[in-house]
Amino acid sequence: MGYSECTGRIGGLPRRVGAAIMHGLATPPSPQKAVKMLEITVIPVEGYQRVCRGIDPESGLHAIIAVHNTVLGPALGGMRMWPYASEEEALTDVKRLSRGMTYKASCAGLNLGGGKSVIIGDPKNKSKEMFEAMGMFVESFQGSYITAEDVNTKVEDMAIVNTVTEYVVGLAGKSDNPSPKTAWGCYLGLKAAAEEKFGSPDLKGLTVALEGAGSVGRVYADLIAKEGGKIIAADIKEKAANRVAESTGGSVVSPDEIRSIDCDVYAPCALGGSVNDETIANLKARVICGAANNQLLRPEHGEKLRERGVLYAPDYVVNAGGLINVYHELVPGGYKEEAAMAQMDKIRQNLLQIFQLAREEGICTAVAADRFGEARVLTAMEQAKA
Ligand SMILES: NC(=O)c1ccc[n+]([C@@H]2O[C@H](COP(=O)([O-])OP(=O)(O)OC[C@H]3O[C@@H](n4cnc5c(N)ncnc54)[C@H](O)[C@@H]3O)[C@@H](O)[C@H]2O)c1
Repeated sequence: MGYSECTGRIGGLPRRVGAAIMHGLATPPSPQKAVKMLEITVIPVEGYQRVCRGIDPESGLHAIIAVHNTVLGPALGGMRMWPYASEEEALTDVKRLSRGMTYKASCAGLNLGGGKSVIIGDPKNKSKEMFEAMGMFVESFQGSYITAEDVNTKVEDMAIVNTVTEYVVGLAGKSDNPSPKTAWGCYLGLKAAAEEKFGSPDLKGLTVALEGAGSVGRVYADLIAKEGGKIIAADIKEKAANRVAESTGGSVVSPDEIRSIDCDVYAPCALGGSVNDETIANLKARVICGAANNQLLRPEHGEKLRERGVLYAPDYVVNAGGLINVYHELVPGGYKEEAAMAQMDKIRQNLLQIFQLAREEGICTAVAADRFGEARVLTAMEQAKA
């Protein structure tokens, strides 16, 4: 998929963001707090709309912002802080993540593009000055990139970013913690997967192996259990797994056992890459549906799952609940929880369409999801050209 620099409107929202989308939604920036020494250089990357390096020697900021595509709307994606071993490693990650956001937003039917930012460094070295510099960096994209919290950044960090730029969402007092919404989306996704694989959306009697009993996993587990599903939980933090077992009436196994346990559904809610050669060889589950990003270690694992008769509910379709929720901060009139929740059913509907596409075309669901997401972007790009 290529990119285009967008200046018009599509689907009711400005593609190159502008004041309208943010109107009245964010605290006005305080320009006096702007960091003066920020050096911004463009990193040319084919297929990406704009990738830049931002360096602020004063605060020690070394960051990259990647905007993959804004044809459907401004690129929204979190700000991650990670001790990458090199800038190259950070660039690879931010490219992969921002591209993923394009597909996630497109599949969810949102008027948003794909973008992401990464700060290279140990989260222990966070500072107010660093997030102010980061705010300047975000601001330099003039609204074509909107940021939010992500791995190792918090709502409080975003509040500092917001003193410099209005292009930040997920602030306290607005759409709030996305995890319960992500969990709700996973639950709806699982109902779609159950309908496809087991012939009914009813989760009663299904055994779900939950890997990762964190913010999303524990809420997801509760929702499944409430409908009569049985939970087997695993977490590297034993306490977290025990807590889920207690609240759901389920059981606990070790993280080493969870991927090969006897169950109907494997729900990866910890880290990416858990669906790999070894997992696929030992998996008893017939459905994979969880919140973790980048569940397939390599793209060919999608096809391997299909060959083994395992239905994979593509991660970025299933875990879009948080994005749908935060998107509602940007719509005219501001965030309304009911409106955000109403849009979540899109996850279920989209999955059913993706499963059908995969069935009809004889392709794996991961490829079907990419095609599904790409179709909307390509149509918008054609319209933009016309
Ligand atoms: N929070 C959201 O709204 C959201 C949205 C989209 C995607 N996701 C993705 O969903 C996943 C879970 O997110 P979260 O917010 O619940 O994170 P979290 O950090 O709250 O929970 C993750 C849990 O997984 C556990 N864990 C880590 N490695 C493990 C392993 N090898 N085996 C078993 N457990 C392990 C951790 O101890 C932790 O309890 C992440 O991959 C995240 O990127 C989250």
